Parts: sequence; structure tokens; C-alpha cells
Amino acid sequence: MPSLRNLEFAFSSKEEAVGDGCPDDLPLSPPCGGRPSPTVAAPPFDQQLTAFNEHGEATRVTLTQAGSSGGGKIEVATYVNEFWTARQRQANSLHEVSYRACFKPQLPRFFIERLTEPGDWVYDPFMGRGTTPLEAALMGRVPVGCDVNPLSVLLTKPRLNPPAQKQVADRLSEIDLTDSEAAPEDLLVFFHPETLGAIAALRRYFRRRLETGQLDSIDAWIRLVALNRLTGHSKGFFSVYTLPPNQAVSVKSQRRINERRGQVPDRRDVRAVILKKSRLLMSECGLDLRRTLGLVENQALLITASADRTPQILSNSVSLVVTSPPFLKVVQYEQDNWLRCWFAEIDPASVAITMSSSVSAWSEVMTSVFHELARVLKPGGHVAFEVGEVQKGTVRLEEAVIPCGLSAGLEPRLVMINDQEFTKTANCWGVGNNAKGTNTNRIVLFQK
Ligand SMILES: C[S@@+](CC[C@H](N)C(=O)[O-])C[C@H]1O[C@@H](n2cnc3c(N)ncnc32)[C@H](O)[C@@H]1O
Repeated sequence: MPSLRNLEFAFSSKEEAVGDGCPDDLPLSPPCGGRPSPTVAAPPFDQQLTAFNEHGEATRVTLTQAGSSGGGKIEVATYVNEFWTARQRQANSLHEVSYRACFKPQLPRFFIERLTEPGDWVYDPFMGRGTTPLEAALMGRVPVGCDVNPLSVLLTKPRLNPPAQKQVADRLSEIDLTDSEAAPEDLLVFFHPETLGAIAALRRYFRRRLETGQLDSIDAWIRLVALNRLTGHSKGFFSVYTLPPNQAVSVKSQRRINERRGQVPDRRDVRAVILKKSRLLMSECGLDLRRTLGLVENQALLITASADRTPQILSNSVSLVVTSPPFLKVVQYEQDNWLRCWFAEIDPASVAITMSSSVSAWSEVMTSVFHELARVLKPGGHVAFEVGEVQKGTVRLEEAVIPCGLSAGLEPRLVMINDQEFTKTANCWGVGNNAKGTNTNRIVLFQK
């Protein structure tokens, strides 16, 4: 168990939180004696946060209070600023795949660049669309990811090794999009009959390629793009106007949308839509970047599993975890992904997504996840665990998370609150800002 006395000493005030070297002041970099840490030359992470002023605001330092497993209270230094922002340089175009409740690539980047170095393993146990593993790979770190939904691997893996645009075009021209099979008639509320025929032909093509062991990285790329283009709110998608692509409405709701808007699905050129999105995704994928990805792609480990049982990941192997778990019942991943699951032939009933109805039930699940994270982390490794404000800020999950990590033997080093003016970023969460869901990033940083 970590020593609460030390924690209180280390973080009972802003001044005391700023240490000058290991081991006595609980350094944020890996312990002395091992490989040189990436932060040896840079100031310790908490000092970097205190000094942070990249967007014109000084960092505010406060305290977060949380219960300890012994029944007492602990206080953790809390740093508030706009650490990453919509005004920052856009993230790489390869990230442009919609997923409900994804975080911005700038979030994992902030930790990856300060707490790891090239070649280190960076892991997300709830990877969603794969923001953390992809950003890690783009920065020359080994990407490791897990999600209980098999969709995540389908969305993430192809972007770690993108094919050339010409390979995509050639392959698309080889696929017979008239070689279709029956698709559920209900889907005609979203798609023109010919478009649905082409989608069903693609679906059948992927199944055959898989069954014959022929599905390669070009097919996997096309499948990723097709998954991303199924439904959306513009002509760049296969469907008639509907919700943004990270939320598939039910057939019944789509019927209502069609009636209200007086619309019927137009025919779409499935090949052209896929090619256009491929071009956009790869628009910042030059030779240097492909070289960087090539160095780590063959070491990548992406798994479909529950985050609390990941025997595929070696003990003491991971330098940094950056993750964001499902928050209580805020996001209905199963409802959002039903159409993508149909296309990818995933049975949604077989995907055991964690949906906790109370903070105590959620804490129990997260505690078992923290035990698994403590196993896979290297000594000195970090976990940046992002939670949101849920239920209009009345539930502070960062307070609930601290005892979960503590009981797994991890030290809560600090809390970071990214206090950001929300404009378009609300799209990232897929919900109206302040209506429900989350509106700030709140991260608890632990260390093994
Ligand atoms: C908040 S999202 C993560 C989004 C991710 N940070 C991104 O940028 O795309 C939470 C993810 O947890 C997954 N999930 C839910 N329960 C899980 C479990 N028990 N084990 C692993 N993944 C789980 C969901 O499928 C969902 O993709």
C-alpha cells in the first residue's frame, strides 16, 4: 500500500507538491537507478504544470479531497488550466474517425510527450476509436490497446499501417459491388436500395476474405473507412441525412427524421465516398510519418477483452496508460454502434460493455481494472485516468477514482483539470454541451 503520510506530505500544498529529485519527494519520473527518464532534463511533471502558460493563462493550484481505503481523507494537488485546447494545431488527419465519447488526441499527446520516450509502450484499456494507441504510434511509441467491443480493433489497427491511396483505389475497383446478398429491409430507411446493395456486397466480400484467410491490410483499411461512412449528416456518407456518424439512431427514429424532413435516401457512389474519406484520412500521412509508424506497427498489441482481464499484456511492460473509461450510464455504446456492428458482423449482445448505475458499482469495476493496470505497468510507470463531470457536475468521478487506484497500490500524484472553452469540441462528446455528459477533462495521474 502507498503511504498516505507521504502523499499528504507531498501534496498538502502547492509548494510541497514541487519536489527536486527522487526518492524522498515522490518523483513523477521513473525511479532513480533505471534507464534515464525522459523528464530528467525537463522539470518534474508537477512543476511543468505549475509553470504552464502556453495559452496565456496561469495554472491555478487547488486540492482534491478523496476518501482513502483506510476510511480517512487524502488531499491531492490539483492543477487547473487550458492545457490542451481547440486553438492548438489540429491533430493528425489519421485521427478523423468518429467515435462517441472519444477524447482529443492532444490529451494523450500531453502525457506521452512528457512521461515517455520513443520505444516505450503506451496503453489504453478502454481504447474506443484508438486515440491513445494511434497518437502513441505517431510519436514512435509502441501502441497497446484494449476494448471489450471488437469494433475498436477494426477502427484502430488499419490506421497504424495505412496503405497507399492507389492500393485502395485498385482494390476497390476489383470488388464486385453488385455481388450482393439480402440485407434487412429496415435499413432502407437509411439507404437507397442500390446503396444498400453495395454495402451488403462489401459486407459479404469481407466475410469471404476473412473465411479464406485473404483479408489483408488494404481490405482492413477499406472496412474501417466504410464503417466510418455508414451513416452521417452529409453527402459524404452512404446514408440519407441522420445523426452524426458516431451515433446510429434506431430504424424507428430514422423513420421519424425522414418524415419530418420529407426526405428519402439518395443513391450514393460507395466507392467514391470511400476513396474521398481515405484521401482525407491520409492527407497528413507523409513518408516521415509512415516511417515512424513502420518502426512500431509490428510491435503493436491491440486486443478485444475486458480491461480487468488482459493476460495478453506482459507484466511490468507498460510505461504509460492514458485512458477514459465508460462513465456510469452516460453513453449508450451499444445503441450508438448497432449499425456498425451489423456491418462488421459483431453480435452486440455478446459485447459486455460496462454500464454501472451507481458510483459504488462503477468504483468496484474500476478497482479491478486498476489492479490489472498495476500488474502491466512498469515500476515508475504512470496512469492518466480521465473522467468527466457527470450528472451536471454533481458527481465528481475523480474523487471516486483516487481510492480505486490506491487500493491497487498506485500512488495518486495529482489531478489535472483541463478547463476549456467548449465550442466545437462538444462534437467530440457527441452530446449537446451542458445538456448531459461531460464538459471538462478531469484527469487523475497515478504512479506505480
Ligand atoms: C469513453 S470510451 C473511450 C474512448 C476513447 N478514449 C477514444 O478516444 O476513442 C469508453 C470505451 O470503453 C469500452 N468499454 C466499456 N466497458 C469495457 C470493459 N469492461 N473493458 C474494456 N472496454 C470497455 C467501450 O466500448 C468504449 O469504447
